[in-house]
Amino acid sequence: MSRPMRQEVADWASDFDLADPEYNSRAFEIWESLRTRCPLAHSSRYGGMWLPLTFEMVRDIAYDTTRFTSRSAVVSNLPSEFPEPIGNAPPITSDPPFHSEARRLLLPAFAPKRVKKEEQGIRQLCRDTLGELGEIIPGETVVDVARQYAAVIPTRVISRMLGFPAADHALLLGFVRDALEAIDLPADEMAARRDRLDDYLDRQIEEHRRHPRDDLTSFIMGAQIFDQPLTPQHVRGSIALLLLAGIDTTWSVLGSSIAHLASHADDRNRLVTRPELMPAAVEEFLRAFAPVTAARIVKQGHDFHGSRLQEEEWVLLPFGAANRDPKAFHEAHHVVIDRKVNRHLAFGIGIHRCIGSHLARLELRVALEEFLASFSAFELVGSPAWSSGQIRGPRSLRIRILAS
Ligand code: HEM
Repeated sequence: MSRPMRQEVADWASDFDLADPEYNSRAFEIWESLRTRCPLAHSSRYGGMWLPLTFEMVRDIAYDTTRFTSRSAVVSNLPSEFPEPIGNAPPITSDPPFHSEARRLLLPAFAPKRVKKEEQGIRQLCRDTLGELGEIIPGETVVDVARQYAAVIPTRVISRMLGFPAADHALLLGFVRDALEAIDLPADEMAARRDRLDDYLDRQIEEHRRHPRDDLTSFIMGAQIFDQPLTPQHVRGSIALLLLAGIDTTWSVLGSSIAHLASHADDRNRLVTRPELMPAAVEEFLRAFAPVTAARIVKQGHDFHGSRLQEEEWVLLPFGAANRDPKAFHEAHHVVIDRKVNRHLAFGIGIHRCIGSHLARLELRVALEEFLASFSAFELVGSPAWSSGQIRGPRSLRIRILAS
């Protein structure tokens, strides 16, 4: 189905649209101009939404679970059928007090010690994926790293952890894009896409019911909340969350990091010759290229930094814009790969702070280490094609390998 005719954005301060093809590709420039002009932009699209641009505002909203609900994680024209405090994908769509229990049951699966065990497997997977790029002729071969590497690693990692068939990777990437990028389609088309994901997950859950095993899907199916088994909707919603949250985000940061290294030979050479800088560099890539804009809904109308927020309006949390606020970070617009103090918001802040941060950091570090071990020099070919919607990252990124 085709998208409805898009209404062009008249002014980013009063009519912004995160589904506009310009939005993610020009995000840094748009955020900077809005931060100095407003710094709380408004748009009447999607029933009304606000975009705060400073670190302070983003943090304050993320901490405030009384006046804002997380009931719908993705902005759309389709109202959520799932009420507070649970939502359709616990815990990200849940509010207190349900949220803490829904979150607690997932934590052991993503604890640092548990995640560390994945390192060898992830490294092998990166090597296999690099091997699948085929023959590389330095100076000639052009690779689409967004599609052929950055998308593949997190998809393979999370689908293996969930115990989903390896043959389904393309299907899973399609689900991710349907759920997170297609926010401005007609409501019936969006509902059909959501049903396709639900059907797929139901089949995986049924297969795990018949053959339980040591993976995340069986773990969630066997979990309890308030001493009761989870409802089927909770099981499916949490599995959907891990699938969606684990892929698009890591894909985006990995792609943006490789794009940076392709156009900044100094940083690339430093990381090739001093690999011990990689953990700090990963933190800086997370700060500078933080991909997530989370969403909240206003519970009751109230005044916020001089503006009247109306009940049921969306409020966005662009963590990437907060991370580039010059009041919060020295040299906020520069990538400083050995930045000493780096309290960025890439993983959010407050009760919903990312559960998968240890896994994401591990994937990013290992994937970049293996990429640089294979290719020590590469350059951009043309401009990247960017995602649309709340997760910002390159979806096509062509680079020419110069040295392997
Ligand atoms: C670079 C990669 C990642 C980034 C930048 C990222 C970012 C975020 C952010 C900003 C939030 C907070 C959303 C909010 O405030 O509403 C969040 C929540 C969450 N993330 Fe991640 N994430 C990443 C990778 C992962 C991975 C790999 C997983 C697991 C497979 C994961 C699972 C989750 C879950 C379950 C939540 C919800 C936590 C809660 O509501 O209590 N994330 N993530």
